Amino acid sequence: MSVTNEISPDTPTAWWRDAAIYQVYIRSFADGNGDGIGDLAGVRARLPYLADLGIDAIWFCPWYPSPMDDGGYDVSDFRDIEPTFGTLEEAELLIAEAHALGIRIIIDIVPNHASDEHPWFKAALAAGPGSPERERFWFRPGRGENGELPPNDWQSRFGGPAWTRVADGEWFLHLYSSRQPDFNWTNPEVHAEFLDVLKFWFDRGIDGFRIDVADGLIKDPALPDVHGATTGPLPYSDMDGVHEVYRAWRKISDSYPGERIFVGEMWLPDPIRFARYLRPDEMHSAFNFDFLSCPWEAKRLREVIQSSMDSHSLVGAPPTWVLSNHDVTRHVTRYGRSGDTGFEFADRRHGTPVDRDLGTRRARAAALLTMALPGGVYVYQGEELGLWEIEDIPDELRQDPVFERTKHADPGRDGCRVPIPWGDKKPPFSFGTGGSWLPQPQEWAGYTADAQAADPDSMLSLYRKALRIRRDEPALGDGEMSWVMSLADVIAFTRDPGFTCMVNLSSEPVPLPRHESIILASGPLRGDQLPADTAVWLRTF
Ligand code: NOJ
Repeated sequence: MSVTNEISPDTPTAWWRDAAIYQVYIRSFADGNGDGIGDLAGVRARLPYLADLGIDAIWFCPWYPSPMDDGGYDVSDFRDIEPTFGTLEEAELLIAEAHALGIRIIIDIVPNHASDEHPWFKAALAAGPGSPERERFWFRPGRGENGELPPNDWQSRFGGPAWTRVADGEWFLHLYSSRQPDFNWTNPEVHAEFLDVLKFWFDRGIDGFRIDVADGLIKDPALPDVHGATTGPLPYSDMDGVHEVYRAWRKISDSYPGERIFVGEMWLPDPIRFARYLRPDEMHSAFNFDFLSCPWEAKRLREVIQSSMDSHSLVGAPPTWVLSNHDVTRHVTRYGRSGDTGFEFADRRHGTPVDRDLGTRRARAAALLTMALPGGVYVYQGEELGLWEIEDIPDELRQDPVFERTKHADPGRDGCRVPIPWGDKKPPFSFGTGGSWLPQPQEWAGYTADAQAADPDSMLSLYRKALRIRRDEPALGDGEMSWVMSLADVIAFTRDPGFTCMVNLSSEPVPLPRHESIILASGPLRGDQLPADTAVWLRTF
């Protein structure tokens, strides 16, 4: 096992500007207690694997107590650990153990909404209309003669109306499931509560927060109808007042030793509005979903890369490069789809034929592309094993609320959340000793971490090599890049000193440029030719 630099809180390193951050969806990562659900004991046992992979930080999806209506994004207590995952003491041990291996810890914070089992929401229900308890959420009387219609026409992002009626006749707002009431951020109590939650976890040594639905906190208090709009200016997304929240948060993170950071989750159409969240007194970085959503096409990718670089440079923030996460179709599947290879929530193209070999070749090339670009990179658990979307989960086992709320029109996100295969020849593939909460395909026998560790040509071996080189190579990480003139379907750029990345997105081999040596390739080269759907890192003059 390679031990990286131990974390020293006092040495400024701007680590976050080019960190490789590994996303752990705890329920599906590793099960330490044999109940079929991943947990902190499982993560602790696998920390050496993560250190060996060569990542700089882990981002944990929510680990708080939760009824798990939305996989933990429905939080009932922001200051504790979900009992099926472990205890607060275990979380503290995990933080210390990760730090000793040079791995930083980022946790999710979910400020837009709570669980309906959060004590504040229970108190709001009990206290009734007009009470201060209800003012922490968005309770309103309904429209129509007897208040039988929702207060406005907003739709939940999980399908159906964004309002649910309670027994006394009032309605409450939820942009997600009806078990996720939205907080009212015009209420100073909500601000104060979250400042305190940030301190609670910073005091326990965490290095940063990933901010869920970061653009959504502030709503237009007039709650105007949107008449079916889902893009453009919306009264519940990217309202100007949201920046005040992050300015206050940044003051808290800056008051702690070391570099504690915020990473925003904002799906926004306008890169310039997006960059406003990354001004020097707000968040440090954010997920690049334009890149994630982009089809496997050279021209489109070049445009997205350039516009990401441009918008981030306006505010001096590093871009990030993301291929997959727990909400989207895994990219081996996306890139192997016939037809459109991009990603849209509105159309997951579930069931469209997939050429998995093609998707895998492209995923290998995409890994080298992302790791060569300036800025930070995210790795979603299992992408380093080349896992694909599991599309044939039986309906009765699906757990994502999206499936029910869309009346089965959208299969939901379970297919990218299937527990990780670690070893062994049959399910649960050493995920744990007690089965797995979603079924794994038998085909994963050849994709376990153990099987791949022994194979120098595996996806895992590629990620290990690439992450190591990225860490040691002076040209990579934070900094600048320059495009190289190339064929229309080829992406090529240089980084100083002496590094070229070239990705062939055409269907024919293309000649390599002049180079001193080959550092790494995503697949076999053909002499001095770069085959289709292959990327190469070159030492150049
Ligand atoms: C974004 C998270 O990534 C997703 O999993 C969750 O369902 C929604 N926010 C609501 O919290």
